[in-house]
Amino acid sequence: MLQDKDRVFLNLWGQQDWRLAGARKRGIWDNTKDLVALGREKIVEIVKDSELRGRGGAGFPAGLKWSFMPKEVDPARPHFLVINADESEPGSCKDREILRNDPHMLLEGCLVAGFAMGAHTAYIYIRGEYWEPLQHLEAAIVEAREAGLLGPDACGSGWAFDIHVTRGAGAYICGEETALMESLEGKKGQPRLKPPFPAGVGVWGCPTTVTNVETIAVAPTILRRGADWWKGFGRPKNTGTKIFSLSGHVNKPCNVEEEMSIPLRELIDRHGGGVRGGWDNLQAIIPGGSSVPCLPKDICSEVLMDFDALREVKSGLGTAAVIVIDKSADIVEAICRFSHFYMHESCGQCTPCREGTGWMYRVMTRMVQGRASVDEIDTLLDVTYQVEGHTICALGDAAAWPIQGLIRHFRPELERRIAAYRKQAPAQAAE
Ligand SMILES: Cc1cc2nc3c(=O)[nH]c(=O)nc-3n(C[C@H](O)[C@H](O)[C@H](O)COP(=O)(O)O)c2cc1C
Ligand code: SF4
Repeated sequence: MLQDKDRVFLNLWGQQDWRLAGARKRGIWDNTKDLVALGREKIVEIVKDSELRGRGGAGFPAGLKWSFMPKEVDPARPHFLVINADESEPGSCKDREILRNDPHMLLEGCLVAGFAMGAHTAYIYIRGEYWEPLQHLEAAIVEAREAGLLGPDACGSGWAFDIHVTRGAGAYICGEETALMESLEGKKGQPRLKPPFPAGVGVWGCPTTVTNVETIAVAPTILRRGADWWKGFGRPKNTGTKIFSLSGHVNKPCNVEEEMSIPLRELIDRHGGGVRGGWDNLQAIIPGGSSVPCLPKDICSEVLMDFDALREVKSGLGTAAVIVIDKSADIVEAICRFSHFYMHESCGQCTPCREGTGWMYRVMTRMVQGRASVDEIDTLLDVTYQVEGHTICALGDAAAWPIQGLIRHFRPELERRIAAYRKQAPAQAAE
């Protein structure tokens, strides 16, 4: 179990003062000038060595991503750090709590990460509905400016650095990094084709790194305590501590910081108060937010909560938003509800996603009732593979994966419904 002395997030639950005075008591903004003095290359090297992986969903190595920014800064093309605080994945609810309860963690992280990328400016793109987190964030920026922590000589480091906040209007797609950049520029939030990648051509055509709130918030602590300390948690390439968001049919839904690679069952029993009705009442768990495939009970009993372990069982850590589904829930309807979400949030640019998400949703509504033929299960699966990997952004994959997980693990339930429907209503079933 993660010891209190090793916690990075000391005010995750908002029991202490979130303002600057409280943040300083927790060690935030302590020797930040010395962290900057390490220099660009050294900071990137430490983050690389720590094996920190991005907390926004894909788990891309953070230090490597930072190193993609050009080494030399062309004055005509300034570098930008963009923080992704859109957090719209169903089940995910960690970034808003960092902003609400410890906004200075993110601001300090922005300074050191921004410096390491050669950026003088950071933008924080926050989902507009996160009103209280937004208020706290903006107040914290004002405090930091007044205290000289941000500004022409941020923290006395000699590096000019400022942070601006932009509110999104609540479209899930604006969390995708290139759609986010479009939205930041004032345009409709539609993903861009890659390449070019943001580190080459990002916001306003300038080198940009888009990264998640949690990824940046942990960076100063890693620099202070060292890569080896961070690597003391979790398994190789799956290092550090992580905020897990437990929701659904657990006795105590919560956000909790734990060691990466903790067994899923231990995470739920220890911090979520167990599955409602006991472990044997478990039907399935979606371990990383709505877009990753669900896992049945037997896998949940064994699997570790990290990027590689969950990939091995054909799911994913995603944003570590653990959605627990007990036996009282209609699993087919639950996945159908996600299909509706992805259909609704598709930006409509690419045909497989625009048409496929609607098609999959419509078939899923029939699967809920059993008003389908057994052959259609494979047709549905086939369509998910035609969407996956054939679109501009990963929303297509996100729409396909929950259905693939359902068919992989709950095919007998789909077949049972089809048989039951035929038995009860043979006339309609034949239609
Ligand atoms: C449809 C879609 C929505 C996304 N929403 C978010 C989001 O709300 N927050 C986030 O950090 N990343 C989100 N991502 C992932 C981002 O594109 C990007 O990978 C991430 O911000 C990178 O941060 P990291 O390197 O720190 O993990 C989304 C991706 C897709 C395809
Ligand atoms: S995959 Fe979907 S959301 Fe992404 S760009 Fe294509 S149509 Fe838009």
